Amino acid sequence: MSYLVKMIPLKKTSENYLKSKTSNVNLSSKQHMYTSFDDIPDKIIRLLKSHQSEFISGEYIGRSLGLSRAAVWKNIKKLQSLGYKIRSKQKFGYRLIAKTNLMLPWEISDGLQTETIGRKIYYFNTIDSTQNFALKISSKPHENGTIIISERQTHGRGRQNKKWVSPSGGIWLSVILKPNFEISQASLFPMLASLALCVAIEKVLNLKPKLKWPNDLTLDDKKVAGILVDASIESNQIDYLIIGVGINFKIQPSKITKIVKSSENFYGVTTLVGKKEESRPVLLLQTFLYEFEQLYDKLVANKLHGIKNEWEKRSSTIGKNVSISSPNGEIKGRVLGIDDDGALLVSSKGRTQRLQVGDISYQI
Ligand code: BTN
Repeated sequence: MSYLVKMIPLKKTSENYLKSKTSNVNLSSKQHMYTSFDDIPDKIIRLLKSHQSEFISGEYIGRSLGLSRAAVWKNIKKLQSLGYKIRSKQKFGYRLIAKTNLMLPWEISDGLQTETIGRKIYYFNTIDSTQNFALKISSKPHENGTIIISERQTHGRGRQNKKWVSPSGGIWLSVILKPNFEISQASLFPMLASLALCVAIEKVLNLKPKLKWPNDLTLDDKKVAGILVDASIESNQIDYLIIGVGINFKIQPSKITKIVKSSENFYGVTTLVGKKEESRPVLLLQTFLYEFEQLYDKLVANKLHGIKNEWEKRSSTIGKNVSISSPNGEIKGRVLGIDDDGALLVSSKGRTQRLQVGDISYQI
């Protein structure tokens, strides 16, 4: 967990200045941003989806949405450039043939079963870090539950100030939460997020990832996802939390390994889905958001019992002999379990030590 926060004011420029209902965002020429409140592409896609077996005319779309035919055409072009296969036929109009694989906001919203988390979405094709963007907007009102997602990141951040390599094919996501809690409870959020992600992967992909303390997800003992939490506090209360979730959904592990193999405590990287496999990142994302909200609601209602057991059940860490690099130096011992706050309990030199942060390596 890292405690923050320096706020960086947003600059306005006349070029690349994207007007949206709640924020002014400065974009580079290669960057595109879409939001769940940019409603034109969303509405056109909805119309096309509800008439998938037939063509609908530009005039009909225009009339339904209060747009000129030229504006309809422009938006159809935009949707095609985003990977939707839309056939256009003179005198007949447009027909949706296939959806995009991109995690566009209206695709995430379509079928999302949450009340709060993910109801407002910022989407980028590329960004430095979704976590950094979240930091810029999180002090604004109405951002509780907002998510920021990007197809790739140029400066992704990992735990303990490590670089997080984030090529296209991964799911790089930040969730803003403003819980009315004391700071001592912030350590529960990485535990909730990692458990929710594990459950979502089990349900959607039928895989059984393991949890490696504090909050790595592994497959075949290699890292497949990680969680980073940035917290802003004000007189012992949580002001906001930003839960960063990095999922190696459909990546080439060798490309990431090449870049990070010499970093401390590196133990290998893997991918959830192979290069040639069919994949539905949006479904995994929606399921994760739902599972996370369920756990979050339980935390708010103080009904968290059972969560620790669910986490421990999936853990590869319990019972292992480990070496831990912690702020207090290196500790060697045997892991007994985690406590209700998600801290690691280690038997070392005849006594039980409680650790809240650190990186562990398993000893053979
Ligand atoms: C870890 O080190 O295990 C945590 C990695 C967290 C990476 C995610 S990707 C989305 C979000 N944006 C970032 O820059 N980092 C987090």
